[in-house]
Amino acid sequence: MPELTNPFRPGAGHQPPYLAGRREERQRVLQLLQQQTVIENAVITGLRGVGKTVLLDSLKPAVTDRNWIWIGTDLNESASISEDNIATRLCTDLSIATSTVVVSSVTRRTVGFAAEETGEPNTLTYAGLQGIYDRTPGLPLDKLKAVIELSWGALSMAGHHGIVFAYDEAQNLADHAQKEQYPLSLLLDTFQSLQKKGLPVLLLLAGLPTLFPKLVQARTFSERMFRSIFLNRLSESESREAILKPIEDNDSVRLSAESVGTVIRLSGGYPYFIQFICREVYDAFIRRLDKGEQASVPVADIERKLDNDFFAGRWAKTTDRQRDLLSVIAQLASRDEEFTVQEIVEKARELSSKGFSSSHASQMLAALSTQGLVFKNRHGRYLFAVPLLAGYIRRQHPIA
Ligand SMILES: Nc1ncnc2c1ncn2[C@@H]1O[C@H](COP(=O)(O)OP(=O)(O)O)[C@@H](O)[C@H]1O
Ligand SMILES: [Mg+2]
Repeated sequence: MPELTNPFRPGAGHQPPYLAGRREERQRVLQLLQQQTVIENAVITGLRGVGKTVLLDSLKPAVTDRNWIWIGTDLNESASISEDNIATRLCTDLSIATSTVVVSSVTRRTVGFAAEETGEPNTLTYAGLQGIYDRTPGLPLDKLKAVIELSWGALSMAGHHGIVFAYDEAQNLADHAQKEQYPLSLLLDTFQSLQKKGLPVLLLLAGLPTLFPKLVQARTFSERMFRSIFLNRLSESESREAILKPIEDNDSVRLSAESVGTVIRLSGGYPYFIQFICREVYDAFIRRLDKGEQASVPVADIERKLDNDFFAGRWAKTTDRQRDLLSVIAQLASRDEEFTVQEIVEKARELSSKGFSSSHASQMLAALSTQGLVFKNRHGRYLFAVPLLAGYIRRQHPIA
């Protein structure tokens, strides 16, 4: 029998064996490439593990097929420390594209490196772009715009339609008023201004659900500047595809309809959990089949492993009082959707004598947001920031 490798791939940014669903979301992004003048950009948000990174990755070939240049990486926190840092980030990413195109001597003279760098290649390297940035007079906004305009001038010669700037983990972006550094606003202003001038540059951001409110808070025009795409869990039929497609040619591991149903129920349709659970199921099936036994989904084992691998680390960082509050939330009927401070306060009163005042609950929710366990949506309601957290809490911290 040939060696069977487990096809499932749980893990941040790991390409799944089969990308289920997401057709509409992909379409909504790709439509933006048809704009005569770019006025709309896209922001993809969703909980951790819902598939933002792999969706972004899957768009790259589609974008380059349409003859647009794709530029981008993850935005780590250091990119967001200062205006110069975000500018450096953009120059670095742009230079990957520009350093392969030869620029005209006119451009070279405009840029100002014709005389001083005679031995240099005729391309816009990182040093060249950084040089433009440094030499352009004015504010970081003027400098960054000059770099991108000039880069586009060079890149457009090769017949491209435009440039997509794709940035993942964009919730890391922030302005820092105390330090008078506004990297997030700089990014938004730069693109808005370049797009007004008719430059075909498109901003595609992905991140946690806090991202979109953050953009709007920094610049109210973000509301109109971005098409907001919220990634949800997969539907039942998409989940089924995510589970079955990767093993459709595999004669050894055959899942019954019942087993598939169990995986869908356990995973809640969340892509990360589908990959995680299917990897376990696959291994368990192979082991049992080796022993000639009948195989079924080892629910208890999988739940225990998921609790240890995924939830326990986050739970360990909470205080006793926070755990009390979280367990109250986990008892709400709307725990997997949205909940309000009012609902929490009422439920706490119903469950025990030790209640929470509204202001105390609000304060604790703010702390839990910083810890990445809950978040507040645009309508001021709260949601768990980690999928399936309510189920874990109920297993871990049952209310007597
Ligand atoms: N549409 C999908 N179909 C199947 N698996 C997916 C899908 N989207 C994501 N995954 C899997 O889910 C996991 C998390 O995906 P990732 O893109 O890292 O999530 P996020 O960036 O939202 O945290 C990965 O193991 C990935 O392979
Ligand atoms: Mg990601």
